[in-house]
Amino acid sequence: MIKLVSFAFVSLLFASSGHSILNSANPKPALPRSTAPESTLNPDQRADHLLAQMTLAEKLHMVHGNLTLEKPLGPHNAVGWVPGIPRLGIPDLFCADANTVKSATALPSSLASAATWDLKESLKWGAVVGKEMRAFGMNVYLGGNTNLTAREPRDGRTFETKGEDPVLAGRIAAAHLEGIQQQSVLVGVKHFAMNDQETARFTANAVIGERPARESDLLAFEIALKDSNAQMAMCAYNLVNGKPSCANDHLLNGVLKKDWGFPGFVVSDWYATPGSVPAALAGLDQEQPGGYMFDGIWTSESLQTAVQNGDLPMARLNDMVHRILRAMIATGVFDHPAKVGSIDAAADAAVAQEIEEQGAVLLKNKERLLPLSQSLSSIAVIGSHADVGVLSGGGSAQIYPVGGAALKLPPACPPYTPPPGGLACTNASQIYDPSSPLVAIRNKAPHAKVTYIAGTDPAAAAKLAAASQVAIVFVNQWESEGMDLVDLKLAGNQNTVVSAVAAKNPHTVVVLENGSPVIMPWLSSVGAVLESWYPGQRGGEAVGNILFGEANPSGKLPITFPASVSELPRPVIPIPNPPTSTQPFNVDYNIEGADVGYKWFETKSIPPAFPFGFGLSYTTFAISNPRLIPSAPPATGFTVNFDLQNTGSIAGAEVPQVYLALPASTGEPRRLVGWAKVRLRPGAKQRVTISVDASDSSHPLSIWNKAKSSWVNSAGEYVVYVGVSSTASDLIEAGAFKVGN
Ligand code: BGC
Repeated sequence: MIKLVSFAFVSLLFASSGHSILNSANPKPALPRSTAPESTLNPDQRADHLLAQMTLAEKLHMVHGNLTLEKPLGPHNAVGWVPGIPRLGIPDLFCADANTVKSATALPSSLASAATWDLKESLKWGAVVGKEMRAFGMNVYLGGNTNLTAREPRDGRTFETKGEDPVLAGRIAAAHLEGIQQQSVLVGVKHFAMNDQETARFTANAVIGERPARESDLLAFEIALKDSNAQMAMCAYNLVNGKPSCANDHLLNGVLKKDWGFPGFVVSDWYATPGSVPAALAGLDQEQPGGYMFDGIWTSESLQTAVQNGDLPMARLNDMVHRILRAMIATGVFDHPAKVGSIDAAADAAVAQEIEEQGAVLLKNKERLLPLSQSLSSIAVIGSHADVGVLSGGGSAQIYPVGGAALKLPPACPPYTPPPGGLACTNASQIYDPSSPLVAIRNKAPHAKVTYIAGTDPAAAAKLAAASQVAIVFVNQWESEGMDLVDLKLAGNQNTVVSAVAAKNPHTVVVLENGSPVIMPWLSSVGAVLESWYPGQRGGEAVGNILFGEANPSGKLPITFPASVSELPRPVIPIPNPPTSTQPFNVDYNIEGADVGYKWFETKSIPPAFPFGFGLSYTTFAISNPRLIPSAPPATGFTVNFDLQNTGSIAGAEVPQVYLALPASTGEPRRLVGWAKVRLRPGAKQRVTISVDASDSSHPLSIWNKAKSSWVNSAGEYVVYVGVSSTASDLIEAGAFKVGN
C-alpha cells in the first residue's frame, strides 16, 4: 500500500527532525477554553464564531493532515491527524479506518452486515465500532466504504462494501455511520466516486453517463449521506469522466455540495490530492495525510501563496474551514471528546456473533441436511485452518482482533513479484480471527468423533470424509485493498478438495469464508452450502450454532453470485497497457450503466447461480394476499401489505422484498424499493406492511433526467412485486398503478 511505503520512507529520511507544524502555525500561547464558542449557538454559528478569530496560518492548518516524524502514525497511532488549536479550544482530529490501531473486536465484514438486511443490526455494528474508536482516542471514522464494487466483483475491497444495490447499500451504510456517529465520532462515506477496482486505482478513469451514475453508485452515496447526516466524504484515487475524483468540480461542487446540499467537508483519500488550487476550487476541503513531512501537495505547492496572491479566494478557504469546524461541532467532537479507555470486549463479541448469525446465508440445503444432529457419531472437519480460526479481509479495513491473530499467513504476493496478469496485488498478510469452527463443532456434538485435517491433500480429505457420517469443508477466498481477484474461483486446490470429499460423502457441507461471490463448480454434488463471509471473531461460534440449528439462518445475498465470470459486464478486469503505465486509462462503466448486479443479469436474461436477495432458512415461509394501496396522488408513493406465514415447525426470520417495475418507456429493470426483516414463531402469520415514499432519499419512483438535471417521474404503469429474492420466479405481483396521462 502506498501510504505504508511512504510512511516508512519518510520516517527513515527525517527520523531526527523535530519540526512541528503546530508550533509554526500556532505561535500564540494557549488561552483558557472560555474563548470556545457558546454551546447555545448552532453548529454553523459556532463555526463562524471560531473562524472570525482565526489567523491565516490557523485556517491553513485546519485544511490538511499533519503526521509528525516522531510518530509517523500519529498520536494513538492514528492514520491521519489534524492537531487541534488549543487557544481556540479546537480539538485534535484523530482518524482511523477500522479500529486497526490496537486489538479491537473483529466484527463480521460490512458485506456480512449487509446480508442481515437488518438496519437495527447494522446500527449495532456501528455502535460497537464507535464505542471502541472512542476507547482508542479516535474521533474520525474513515471506514464508510459505499462504493458499488459489485460492478467489478473481483475488486479486492468488495468485503468492505454493502453489496450491489444502491438502496440496500446506501441504507446499510447509513445505519453503520449513524451507529458510529451516535458515539460522537465524525463519520464519512468513501471513495467518492466509482472506485470499483483496485488495479491501477490511481489511473483508472471510470467512464459513465450522468443518468447511470446518478442511479447507481452516486445513489448509494446520496442515500448514505442523507439518511445518516454524515459530515464527511472522502474523494477517490481514480478519475471519473476524465477528472481526478479529488479535483472533480462536477462531483464535488456540483453533485455533492450543490445538488445534495451536503454541508460537510470533502477529505482526500490518502495521497490522492491532485493539485493545490484546482482541487480546492473543485471542492476538496482537506488534504490527507498532508503535512510538510508527508509531501502534502497543499503544503509543498503552498496554499498560503495561492491565498495571498488571490489564486485561491479567502472566501473559499473560509468555506473549507467552516465546513470542517461545523462538522466537528455538529457531530460532538468538541463537546464529547473521546477518552482513551478500555473496550467491553465480551459485550462487543456478543454483538459480533449476533450479526454473523443474522448475516450468514444458507445457499443450499438438499434434503434438509442441515441442521446437523447433535447425536452424530463422526464428523470430518476439513480445510481453511478451521482448527484455529476464521479468515478476515486485508488492507486499511483489516482489524487486528482481540486476543491476537490466530494465524498470520505470508502474503499471497510477495514484495517485488509482478502481479498475475497485470492485476493489482498486495503484500499484506492473511489474518485469521481467533474463533475456531472446529472447537465450536466439538462443543455442539459432544458425542461425535470430530477429526480435523488441513485439506491440502484431496485424497486424504476424501478418505476421512468416507469414514465420517458428515463432512464439513471450510473453504476461503482471501481479498484485500491493493489487489483484485484474478477470477471468482476458490484459490489453490480447494475446488478439487470439495469435489473429492463430495464424491465420497453425500453429506458434505461447504462453509464459505470470502469477501466476493465465488463460482462453485461442485455445487450439484454437495449437500449444503453456507455463506459465512468474513465472519469476525465469533465466526466459529456463529457457524457452529447455525450448523447445529441453535441459530436459524436468515441472511440474504446482498450481491449476485454469477455462474461464471464470462457473464459479467467485463469478463476480465480492465488493465492499463502496458500494465506499468502511469497514464489514465478508461474503464467503461457504460457497458452496464446503472444495471449493476441483478439488474444486469435480469436485463441480459442470464440466470445467476444465486440471485441477489436469496437465502434459505431451516423453516419455510409463504407470502399471500398482497394488496397494493397507491398514495394520492399515485406519484407520491404506495403501500403494499401481504400475509407472511412461517409454514414450518421452527422459529425463523424472512426478508420479504418489494421490487418496482417502472413504465416500459424508461427502459429500467425492476428495482428494489423496500423490504422488512420479520421474525415469526412456527405457524405464526403476520400482515406485513411496507411503505414506499417517492420523496425519500432513494428516489424510488424516479429516473434521472439529464436535460432537467433532476429526478423525474415518467407517465405510465408502475408494477409492484413482492417476494423473497430479485429473480422473477421468486416474486408475485402485488398490483399496478398509473402515473400521469
Ligand atoms: C484507502 C482509504 C483509507 C486510507 C487511510 C487509503 O489507501 O484507500 O480507504 O481510508 O488509505 O488509511
